[in-house]
Amino acid sequence: MSDLRSENIILAVPKGRILDELVPLMKKANIIPEKAFFDNNDRRLLFSSNLTWLKIIRVRSFDVASFVAFGGADIGVVGLDVLKEFNYPELYAPIDLGIGICRLSIAQPKNYIENENITLKIATKYPNITTNYYADMGINVNCIKMNGAMEIAPKLDMADKIVDLVSSGMTMEANDLIEIERILDITSHLVINRTAFKTRSENIRYVMSLFQEH
Ligand code: PRP
Repeated sequence: MSDLRSENIILAVPKGRILDELVPLMKKANIIPEKAFFDNNDRRLLFSSNLTWLKIIRVRSFDVASFVAFGGADIGVVGLDVLKEFNYPELYAPIDLGIGICRLSIAQPKNYIENENITLKIATKYPNITTNYYADMGINVNCIKMNGAMEIAPKLDMADKIVDLVSSGMTMEANDLIEIERILDITSHLVINRTAFKTRSENIRYVMSLFQEH
């Protein structure tokens, strides 16, 4: 194991919207990243914190789950959507942080006409959740895996419906889509690598307690 890895607990946090909500939570928990962490132009990925043994990495939200599951990080902040999509057995999710509130929903064009004779094409970042959700209803669907902007796919005749995150609903509205079914209510959770939880229990429990107490 590298010195970096053996001497530090690594906390993986997601870039973007969730980070804006997470930063105040970290502040309350008295986990203060170095200044460069807050500079979006800084190209570094690894940052130190006020705790000498805690380093922080800032990565894409889906990658937080992979970094923690494969042991690159010990602790992470992951949405329930990402947790369910990957379903990594190595992740333990003991604390709901109550931030990043949104929902995962099915949406379709306002003028959509159901046709039971076709296999639905669904554009989504979440092919596993989507496939399982429809399979539970006995329906087989074809998912088109996308990384964003799937709201435009039905209009371009590429997909019949989409499965995506909804917060304010403005993106759906702006793209003439109607939310027809809610699949999952989402918040962000603190996740722990199960092996690290056993081998580095003291430091990890300490970080958990900081988030729990505040
Ligand atoms: C998410 C989601 C929608 C939008 C929904 O994307 O994929 O596009 O937010 O929010 P709303 O209901 O408030 O309009 P995000 O902005 O996180 O960016 P992404 O497409 O890069 O994931």
